[in-house]
Amino acid sequence: MTSAEVRQSFLDFFRSKEHEIVESASLMPSSPNLLFTNAGMNQFVPYFLGDRPAPFKRAADTQKCIRAGGKHNDLEDVGFDTYHHTMFEMLGNWSFGDYFKKEALEWSWELLTKVWGMPAERLHATVYKPGAGDPAEFDQEAYDVWAAIYRAEGLDPEKQIHYGNKKDNFWMMGETGPCGPCSEVHIDLTPDGNGGHLVNAGTPWCIEIWNDVFMQFNATEDGRFVPLKAKHVDTGMGFERVAGIMATTDGFKDFTKAPSNYNADVFAPIFAKISEMSGKSYGRTMPEDRNNLSPEEMRDVVFRVLADHARALSCAIADGILPGNEGRNYVLRRILRRAIMFGRRLDLKPGFFTELVAPVVETLGGTFPELVERREVIEKVIRSEESAFDRTLDRGLQEFERIVARLG
Ligand code: SER
Repeated sequence: MTSAEVRQSFLDFFRSKEHEIVESASLMPSSPNLLFTNAGMNQFVPYFLGDRPAPFKRAADTQKCIRAGGKHNDLEDVGFDTYHHTMFEMLGNWSFGDYFKKEALEWSWELLTKVWGMPAERLHATVYKPGAGDPAEFDQEAYDVWAAIYRAEGLDPEKQIHYGNKKDNFWMMGETGPCGPCSEVHIDLTPDGNGGHLVNAGTPWCIEIWNDVFMQFNATEDGRFVPLKAKHVDTGMGFERVAGIMATTDGFKDFTKAPSNYNADVFAPIFAKISEMSGKSYGRTMPEDRNNLSPEEMRDVVFRVLADHARALSCAIADGILPGNEGRNYVLRRILRRAIMFGRRLDLKPGFFTELVAPVVETLGGTFPELVERREVIEKVIRSEESAFDRTLDRGLQEFERIVARLG
């Protein structure tokens, strides 16, 4: 399956389950306490809180998200691992006071195993089990649904179901707002398929692909978890993760290769442009130790950083968020500068980053038309930021060389 087919089949599946397919919201968040839209559910907060009635009972979409600041921040990992991004698409389905845990989990299972053909024994589920001081109680209902699913597959629930406390299995958008226990699906990508013990161990060989959140509470500023008027479902699937797994394993046939989201074809045109400009090729290496990288590993880190950051900058600017000196604008400026610094490691010429807008528009413009409409603005903003930062870097380097010469 291509990346585009993964996205489309997710939406088609939930359309067949009577979900309204809605547009991605802007990366400019609707909630005042967020830097960027960081989850598919952001645009639905008023429905969860009961502030406004939902116009539909069920919805699904692909949502542009940036997690580079605030409660969810993956920026420093991007490039050094193969499964985090600043900007990513979250495929999601929602129930607004309609279906709850049973349907949500059973549909997740149906799409993953029956429609897409993921091997059941490689899929592990996590269930909320509060630690001391954590809110709510053990999620028996989710456990029972998973246990029935695994038994029906001839698998042992005790081996496939794992437990997590508030840190891993209680999802909150920020410090306040709608929240609830969650149940995640992780996929074991180890060559021998014995990696269940790696769930939540921070390794690319076993990663979370889908999170089903059961929205039951509103976290208030004074630290209370107030039950919501109705119960809702909020799910989020990592689009690049699923597309990357499909590409790496050749449709779940070959688990010998190092897993990476960046093997998905949605990154290929961006990598091709970096290759054209640098004369180097992406080698699909995966660093074991980020503090001790081989030259090949460093080259691949740079490819990943540039591809990721070009997508984040292009999508954010298309949504009217510009690099600047404060708040979210400064985060964007930092992402751009991080890209330029990494680009220098491949000896890329000044202005290279602006060149990456074209392949980003090529790969994402069909899904997010604002990229096509605002392409000129995106290029103009990046060009001007890039040249200002290049001048600053060059001045710093000259100054450094003058000091070294004087000392020598
Ligand atoms: N809100 C949850 C998440 O972002 C599920 O969509 O993981």
